[in-house]
Amino acid sequence: MLPLWVADMDFVSPPAVLQALHERVAHGVFGYGSDTKKLTEIIVERLFRLYGWRVTPEDIVYIPGVVPGFNLACLAYAEAGERVVVQTPVYPPLLKAPFETGRDGADIGFNRDTDGRFSVDWQAFESAMAAEARLFILCNPQNPLGRVFTRHELEKMAAICLKRGTVICSDEIHCDLVFAGHRHVPIASIDPEIAQNTVTLMAPSKTYNLAGLQCSFAVIQNEQLRKRFRAADKGLMAHLNLLGCTAAVAAYSQGQTWLDELLQYLAANRDVTVKFIHEHMPKIGVTAPEGTYLAWLDCTKDPALSRPYQFFLKQAHVALSDGRQFGAPGEGHVRLNFGCPRALLLEALERMRRALERNASK
Ligand SMILES: Cc1ncc(COP(=O)(O)O)c(C=O)c1O
Repeated sequence: MLPLWVADMDFVSPPAVLQALHERVAHGVFGYGSDTKKLTEIIVERLFRLYGWRVTPEDIVYIPGVVPGFNLACLAYAEAGERVVVQTPVYPPLLKAPFETGRDGADIGFNRDTDGRFSVDWQAFESAMAAEARLFILCNPQNPLGRVFTRHELEKMAAICLKRGTVICSDEIHCDLVFAGHRHVPIASIDPEIAQNTVTLMAPSKTYNLAGLQCSFAVIQNEQLRKRFRAADKGLMAHLNLLGCTAAVAAYSQGQTWLDELLQYLAANRDVTVKFIHEHMPKIGVTAPEGTYLAWLDCTKDPALSRPYQFFLKQAHVALSDGRQFGAPGEGHVRLNFGCPRALLLEALERMRRALERNASK
């Protein structure tokens, strides 16, 4: 079975991260020692350097993961039964967050342009926010669609939320995984008024393959929103993982060359995937993702693929992610993770092609 599913990569983290972790482990004492001062300085400098976004150390709230972050946002900014809006298809824990926290989850779809690109369904967006939405959870770059929203799209979404008094929680965990020709814009960096209405969730985990080390952060510039976010955890939130903090410092301060190389490799994997599917599995729809290492495969045009996840699992021994977990528009779709060695990716694609061929000749 070739696993191209859970959104982490097969690659070893940057050498500087491994070295920093070895040194920290050699220290041998693992008490309450997560000193976040250095990491905070690095994050503040980084957000300004990359996005021209000025934040202060006080704006940063550490959390063990982005998933706890958006669940906390549901608890903090909507009361039980109040409306939280998400755009589907979307990362399953984000889709489930309103329900897990007893809020009223409302999901809106995307439009499909003629070139296959997904874009915001503005009519649905406007009416969802108009119906007393307390919170909008944005996923940018978008998992599973691979869209990197433009400044214009973000400005428009933010303006509607501001008009309706809807708080924005922006999951930007994939922010560093953006391909040439696209640019990540943190929605809160657009202007101070938007920043005052937004909680941004980020982490080095996707970028440097550190998800198991649990070190993430929220940027919350509005003091009231920050207080409510902190209060919502009711003492249940674990503090930052000591080794995660060590890894994050090393990754952010010494991992840029590794990341540049990674992005080139991922871009080539993306191109290989899209070309292979266009050439050898023409009934499957795919558009080149603008960011992330995830490709969203539309199998709805092939009658043989009514349950594509099961089909590829059983017939090709390739484990993708079942599109149905990503919300109603995910029916007939699968997500493919190309964050793996190219030989393995090609082997998986070839197995998928052969399974379809065998099925067609039955
Ligand atoms: C959009 C998105 N948010 C959050 C996560 C996971 O966040 P964490 O492991 O920090 O809880 C993922 C992982 O796939 C993701 O794709």
